[in-house]
Amino acid sequence: MDKYKETFETWDKLAGLYQEKFMHLDLYDDTYDLFCNELEPHAALLEIGCGPGNIAAYLLKKMPELKIDANDISPNMIGLAQLNNPSAHCYVMDSRDISQIEKKFDGIVAGFCIPYLSVPDTRQLVKDCNNLLNENGVLYISFVEGNPGDSGYKAGSTGDRTYFYYHEWKVLEEMMKKDNFEILHLIHKSYKRNDGSEELHSIAIAKKPKHSD
Ligand SMILES: C[S@@+](CC[C@H](N)C(=O)[O-])C[C@H]1O[C@@H](n2cnc3c(N)ncnc32)[C@H](O)[C@@H]1O
Repeated sequence: MDKYKETFETWDKLAGLYQEKFMHLDLYDDTYDLFCNELEPHAALLEIGCGPGNIAAYLLKKMPELKIDANDISPNMIGLAQLNNPSAHCYVMDSRDISQIEKKFDGIVAGFCIPYLSVPDTRQLVKDCNNLLNENGVLYISFVEGNPGDSGYKAGSTGDRTYFYYHEWKVLEEMMKKDNFEILHLIHKSYKRNDGSEELHSIAIAKKPKHSD
């Protein structure tokens, strides 16, 4: 089966379990705070790969006037995201299609979406985000640091698989700089997996400067 198709089906199946485990995780809250520091109270945000809307819920609790459009490939995730964030506009979309969006945004959040995108698709996503941002717009993007050669299928406790892509900061940084993003923050978090092993999670926050075209 196509790698992406299996990944999408797994996410759709595991939406409820993901919500149970991650809806109230506070590990990344300080990184959301750094992102919020760059936003005006009424900013228009796009969230890509929003899952059950856990990040949107945190952002809206802190800044209730934000106007959030949130998308995800999984209809079940979108159902949960909409329930968890009645004021947001949540809809199904593949992150590879965001260039079709006709609005501009002051901020874009992509929380652990690129672990499910290949390097070329990630490069396109960064480019598309640049086009969708207003001047001074801010991009939040998180990923799992690792050797891209170790990318492959991963199965969780249910046995369902996703194709998981490790990304290297130096490659992502080069993509962002090529699109004239100014890197504001790079934060690392140590994440303990169920099996006791630790992963390095990285969060980059970058700004699209004025007149970057
Ligand atoms: C690890 S979850 C992240 C959820 C949330 N953003 C967070 O940080 O907790 C990954 C999400 O990305 C979505 N996803 C994976 N590939 C996608 C794609 N090509 N387009 C849109 N969403 C995708 C999955 O459906 C899932 O909801």
